[in-house]
Amino acid sequence: MGVIVADGRAELAEARAKFSGGTLALVPTMGALHEGHRSLISLARGHADHVAVSIFVNPLQFSPNEDFSRYPRTLERDLAVCEEAGAALVFTPSAAEMYPEGRQVSVSSGTMGTLLEGAFRPGHFDGVLTVVLKLFNLVQPNVAVFGRKDAQQLAVIKRMVADLDVPVTIVGAPTVRDPDGLAMSSRNRYLSAEDRVTALALSRALTAGHGHAELGPQAVLAQAGAVLDQAAKAEPPLEVDYLALVDPATFAPVPPGFAGEAILAVAARVGSTRLIDNSAVVLPGGPPA
Ligand code: PAF
Repeated sequence: MGVIVADGRAELAEARAKFSGGTLALVPTMGALHEGHRSLISLARGHADHVAVSIFVNPLQFSPNEDFSRYPRTLERDLAVCEEAGAALVFTPSAAEMYPEGRQVSVSSGTMGTLLEGAFRPGHFDGVLTVVLKLFNLVQPNVAVFGRKDAQQLAVIKRMVADLDVPVTIVGAPTVRDPDGLAMSSRNRYLSAEDRVTALALSRALTAGHGHAELGPQAVLAQAGAVLDQAAKAEPPLEVDYLALVDPATFAPVPPGFAGEAILAVAARVGSTRLIDNSAVVLPGGPPA
């Protein structure tokens, strides 16, 4: 059986009924699918009998000055990727279908949604949570898979599921990187060859920070920061929005002496392309070495 494509609520409900005998995993996406998404679909296959993918560029999570209208839309190719990767169902609603007129109520991402990415993209995580909850309600998955590349998104989604008792198990999937270290992203296609050389500083900074974990938070940030400072002098330059070492449960900066797993997160722009990346760093705790 080929992949079933549903572009409306009625078609989705009819298709969803076909999978009611088994478990269903959902991979929510905004399309422009790449190897990273393919790996989410494969991981999802290990967690449920069937996999559904949603493809919807969600206007609610873009600010007016962001790239909503130029966000890549490659539906035909995306459907082929979903089919090849073993998805059984693809939901491709229109904005009118998802947000009928009169909409008023949305999900608030709380304090966590105002930190880091949320500080640079006000309202972004409220938009993400609102669409994710709607997708959960429409598709009714048992499990949903999200990439760890968007670590803060994964954390706010886990928070929503816990706080609102949403009956969906959330699975985080490892970041997929190109051989040069650049984390895969639909936005990488905007980078010129020169931009890409500068952009490699993100993953290099994370590796440098990661390598100094045993020396504590300050050393991790200093080592990663030195790589970013160097890239700020490159042509084209890297323009850093933030570099932070945060508690994965709250996304607040870790205090000195913090022990356990933290997330080293970075966001930076090369030209008009904004990129994010992160890495888990295990800190030994205790006073700085
Ligand atoms: O990560 C994304 O592609 C989006 O933020 C998501 C989770 C599909 C919600 O629109």
